[in-house]
Amino acid sequence: MISLTGVEKRYTTEVRIGPIDLDLPAGGITALIGPNGAGKSTLLTMIGRLLEADAGSISVAGHDVAATKSRELAKVVAILRQENHFVTRLTVRQLVGFGRYPHSRGRLTVQDEAIVDRSIDFLGLDGLEGRYLDELSGGQRQRAYVAMVLAQDTDYVLLDEPLNNLDIQHAVQMMRHLHRAATELGRTIVVVLHDINFAGHYADRVCAMKDGQVVAFGTPDEIIRGDVLTDIFDTPVEVVDGPRGRLAVYY
Ligand SMILES: Nc1ncnc2c1ncn2[C@@H]1O[C@H](COP(=O)(O)OP(=O)(O)OP(=O)(O)O)[C@@H](O)[C@H]1O
Ligand SMILES: [Mg+2]
Repeated sequence: MISLTGVEKRYTTEVRIGPIDLDLPAGGITALIGPNGAGKSTLLTMIGRLLEADAGSISVAGHDVAATKSRELAKVVAILRQENHFVTRLTVRQLVGFGRYPHSRGRLTVQDEAIVDRSIDFLGLDGLEGRYLDELSGGQRQRAYVAMVLAQDTDYVLLDEPLNNLDIQHAVQMMRHLHRAATELGRTIVVVLHDINFAGHYADRVCAMKDGQVVAFGTPDEIIRGDVLTDIFDTPVEVVDGPRGRLAVYY
């Protein structure tokens, strides 16, 4: 479980995220949705300890995020940031290998290599593993970063807009991969999504943020509703019955 109690980030006197009280149960996919600037990345990076909270406490699987050593926490939770992905002269395989760092400290064992192989395969990157990152398309590079995060082999995985740059084929594949990671590997996944219909279809829970607060939290049936989404996004959204579940319609 991920548990937040009274968590706040005060960037400036005007921009304050929280206080947030939230319990995300272990297992399954939680989609984090909400407008630009709502506080989604702030929340995710505080859970992943890349950003220090100004108040409150956060625990992941019983580990107090503020009190746990980074190296220990890195075996419990992995995070893909929205930005600042480093693009250096690394191959895909080397990048994915970095995911093993908290375990191997840079010297990959046979077992680490096997996990790197699995992760590359999982994201459909076979054939690209020897390519340098600056020789990839945006979507291919995005998949390589997600492969790195999954190679960290943590029970908790936080992904900030992993569908960025992906075409519909790869976006669908990515969501299926994440669904498999949750169901087959037992991961707990928290993923920031702007595509409401992916959230509705693949997530077990949807957490909506607005103006620095969690404004709705529930099952897709409870959140993917016209009135709720219209309120969250300040934009008319209709929800209709589609062939495979409900669909949010906006244009
Ligand atoms: N380093 C910072 N200093 C000051 N304000 C910041 C900083 N980082 C973020 N903010 C502000 O905090 C608020 C929340 O930002 P955050 O990045 O968490 O939003 P988000 O929900 O992830 O949005 P997006 O969908 O655009 O990624 C915004 O108003 C943003 O301008
Ligand atoms: Mg963000």
